[in-house]
Amino acid sequence: IMISINDIHNNHVLINDVISIFGWIRSRRDSKSGFSFIDVYDGSCFKTIQAIVKKSIPNYKTEVLKLTIGCSICLTGILILSLGKKQKYEIQVLKIKVLGWIDNPHHYPISAKKHTYEYLREVPHLRSRTNFIGVITRIRNHIFYKLHHFLYKKKYFWIPTPIITSLNSEGAGSMFRVSTLNLNNIPVNHDGTINFKKDFFGKESFLTVSGQLTAESYACSMTKVYTFGPIFRAEHSNTTRHLAEFWMLEIEKAFSDLENIIILSEKIIKYVIKFVLNDCEDDIKFLYNHIDKNIFNRLQKFLSSKIIHINYIDIIKILKKSHQNFSHTVYMGMDLMSEHEKYLVDHYFKSPIIIKNYPKEIKAFYMRLNNDNKTVAAMDLLVPDIGEILGGSQREERQMVLESRLSECNLNKKKYSWYVDLRRYGSVPHSGFGLGFERLLSYITGVKNVRDLIPFPRCVKNALC
Ligand code: 4AD
Ligand code: MG
Repeated sequence: IMISINDIHNNHVLINDVISIFGWIRSRRDSKSGFSFIDVYDGSCFKTIQAIVKKSIPNYKTEVLKLTIGCSICLTGILILSLGKKQKYEIQVLKIKVLGWIDNPHHYPISAKKHTYEYLREVPHLRSRTNFIGVITRIRNHIFYKLHHFLYKKKYFWIPTPIITSLNSEGAGSMFRVSTLNLNNIPVNHDGTINFKKDFFGKESFLTVSGQLTAESYACSMTKVYTFGPIFRAEHSNTTRHLAEFWMLEIEKAFSDLENIIILSEKIIKYVIKFVLNDCEDDIKFLYNHIDKNIFNRLQKFLSSKIIHINYIDIIKILKKSHQNFSHTVYMGMDLMSEHEKYLVDHYFKSPIIIKNYPKEIKAFYMRLNNDNKTVAAMDLLVPDIGEILGGSQREERQMVLESRLSECNLNKKKYSWYVDLRRYGSVPHSGFGLGFERLLSYITGVKNVRDLIPFPRCVKNALC
């Protein structure tokens, strides 16, 4: 049977059992008295397993002494309690088979020394062999699973909303267009460029910037739904918090208002933080040791405190009084820039905050107009070091108001007629939010750049692979 290194460390294997391990070499040390220690990882957990290879093994001289970092091997041996103090278990090797050599160890891009993030982004196909990306991969997986699990337990339905769409629901400045191209007969223009058909079988179409609107249609029948998938934004922003392809969890709930959704957003984040602290002990410890000395403080504080809620109006008052030299001047009605967000969460509050009731002019058309006719029932969750990680609102459920908002925002009423239908036929108050998955990961792990939190980052700078 194939056993993972995690199975061993979780005590699922008996002492003196003969087992086989498949993995890659993290390090090799040879002792003078004629045996070698090999550290093996297989991704299943942070820990490696140490294997002791005696020189009596037939391929000791011909192969074992030539093994380098990154070689893949299968080893069979007896599980014993370690004589050393560094680990509980080790394997006394009976047989070792080399599955793959490193063709030139001097050229292997992943060495034992610490690599910079920038360097690792240049080798996205190999960077998961480092401890750092291994840690991030396991934590990312655990949080993804726990988000689904929370919603499953609360009886939300997962709706896979479309990736190809004709709508620009967030009023994004630019989107990725979907074109069709017959690869068997590529049409070439006079100047040699390819003549793409900029449509999807005759219809103009784009990669989605949000699954919200289609999720709303399901909320208006299934009551509690969510969508969780890749989101595409043709962002030119070369920042540490923007990706052109990222993941978003979007929850949509019928018979629900702004306050309900604020409470839910706080609950779900607390839920995943609790489980990450509980279940990813070794991985979090690595982050504490190498990335962020404040990780335990930050997460425990998040769990034990209630997030501050504050109206947009009061935020502007705070910013005005701050006497900071912002490069964008502060005025009532302005959109918050990252410098303002930073001042608020990093310096003024020094904690996460929820800002609500923004002016309608700076928010999307679908947000519910408040009684003042000026602000909308919107909310954003801002956290230190990152800024906005989550945004949501109560949706406009009144057909007349929605239609006049569509006109005000110069949106094509025909394109949105199906969306207005939801208000025409048995409309209900409903609300929802979108949580940026990589930004949540950034907050939890303390890793600053979202490019290091997604396996293959797509953004202005990085190569595609
Ligand atoms: O604030 P946004 O644009 O909201 C929506 O798309 C709504 N439809 C959500 C909803 O109510 N269902 O995006 C939501 C979140 C942001 O708070 C941010 O965390 C993340 O998505 N986000 C990005 N993350 C990485 N790279 C980008 N370019 C991002 N743009 C937004
Ligand atoms: Mg937003």
